[in-house]
Amino acid sequence: MRRSVIAGNWKMNLGFGEAADLVNSLTKLNYNTEQKDVIIAPSFVYLSELGKIAKDSNIKVYAQNFYYEDSGAFTGEVSIEMLKNIGVAGSIVGHSERRMIFHETDEVINKKIKAAVAHKFPVIFCVGETLEQRVAGVHEEVVTAQVGLGLEGISEKDMEIITIAYEPVWAIGTGKTASSDDAESMHKAIRNFLGKKYNKALADNVRILYGGSVKPENISELMAMENIDGALVGGASLKADSFAKIINY
Ligand code: PGA
Repeated sequence: MRRSVIAGNWKMNLGFGEAADLVNSLTKLNYNTEQKDVIIAPSFVYLSELGKIAKDSNIKVYAQNFYYEDSGAFTGEVSIEMLKNIGVAGSIVGHSERRMIFHETDEVINKKIKAAVAHKFPVIFCVGETLEQRVAGVHEEVVTAQVGLGLEGISEKDMEIITIAYEPVWAIGTGKTASSDDAESMHKAIRNFLGKKYNKALADNVRILYGGSVKPENISELMAMENIDGALVGGASLKADSFAKIINY
């Protein structure tokens, strides 16, 4: 049985006071901590303080990104060691905004995943096709290729720290969600790919989240799908009431 995960990706949003208030409300929520992980990924600059607020709760604080080197002349970058130093539990990696706006390639994402493995640092590894790729009917190829390139050189054992998030680019921040059937069929394709690359037992254990305009109104339908194990939520994770409804779908 795969534990479900509801993760909030706050991106470059919220003032510090708003973020602190939001974490405070989330720490008071009642949810089934046996069956569900709740993760928030705030801006780097708030991680330390928000981590203190979340400390005695079950909420895990993740980063949105990191660099693959441990230290050195990499102006503006943050290493896994630095994140671990302040108690950050893991990170998102390869988000489509990192890929598209900041030109992160599959090769860079693979280096980051390798660094995460070396540091036993859990990651939510994002993949997803553009609208053009979906219209052209190549979405499954594109997404499984992203999974394969990101996981190059990653062993079965290393996979313990990896959660995958399928986020169709056309559904992110647009209000357009993939239908639960379309999401389910992509999740199945990813699981089949992992079954071939590794083995069925591993594929059955990897958690695959859906992301892209997840809201209180569509979470239950998505979560009812056999291969959808959770959600990576952007916009709707920025308000306590909507995020709480998603957590308690
Ligand atoms: P959205 O973002 O929920 O605002 O569409 C999801 C994401 O980018 O992770």
